[in-house]
Amino acid sequence: MALQRIDKILSSQNIGSRNDIKEMIKKKRISVDGKIILKPDEKFDPNISEIKVDGNIISFKKYLYVMMNKPSGVLSATYDKYDKTVLDILPKEFQRNGLFPAGRLDKDTEGFVLITDDGELAHKMLSPKNHVYKLYKAVVDKILTDEDVHAFEKGISLGKDDFLPASMKILDEHTALVEICEGKFHQVKKMFNAVGANVIYLKRLRIGGVFLDENLSAGECRQLTENEISDILSKTHGI
Ligand code: URA
Repeated sequence: MALQRIDKILSSQNIGSRNDIKEMIKKKRISVDGKIILKPDEKFDPNISEIKVDGNIISFKKYLYVMMNKPSGVLSATYDKYDKTVLDILPKEFQRNGLFPAGRLDKDTEGFVLITDDGELAHKMLSPKNHVYKLYKAVVDKILTDEDVHAFEKGISLGKDDFLPASMKILDEHTALVEICEGKFHQVKKMFNAVGANVIYLKRLRIGGVFLDENLSAGECRQLTENEISDILSKTHGI
């Protein structure tokens, strides 16, 4: 990795804003390889140098991985002229350049969105050939039957839209869990439409081996743990 300014390195690790870091430098709270830093534009390679704040080592994380419980009404996009996006509602402490939502949930869909700046992981997570399954809870406007389950299991073909076999588990007359490993536009809604149902509520509950944290209310987020970062690409499935 190229040399980077110390204020940029520390703000990328959510230690504080560039201004906060400037203040910390003034107070001589930051050292690199044992030397107190005096200016915010001093440059280092964060993968090589030992950076300390108040004597505590900062273990440099190249990428950020944030789990958001997306509320309905917010777009899974980086920018929109009219509507709020997941990046607009991302708390300040997580904001940094290069973040994007890995995969799209519709505006009215709730649940797990991964926000990251790791393009390689996002690509792996989204490519159907990697079999990273996504689990959804859907509420529909018709009474679900075993025939619908079988139709999903066979794979639904709508002429221009072909969907791979998917699992469905009926929870009650109008509610089901659905697991898919593709992420085609309006996929779950279209699959239900194909069996004569309209989706009236949709929430993503799991990506790969990682469940949406139940403690996150709509709009809240937290960083993934190290285990979750590897589990997100897990081929775990079954409902
Ligand atoms: N399928 C849909 O139809 N919508 C979503 O937001 C996600 C999956």
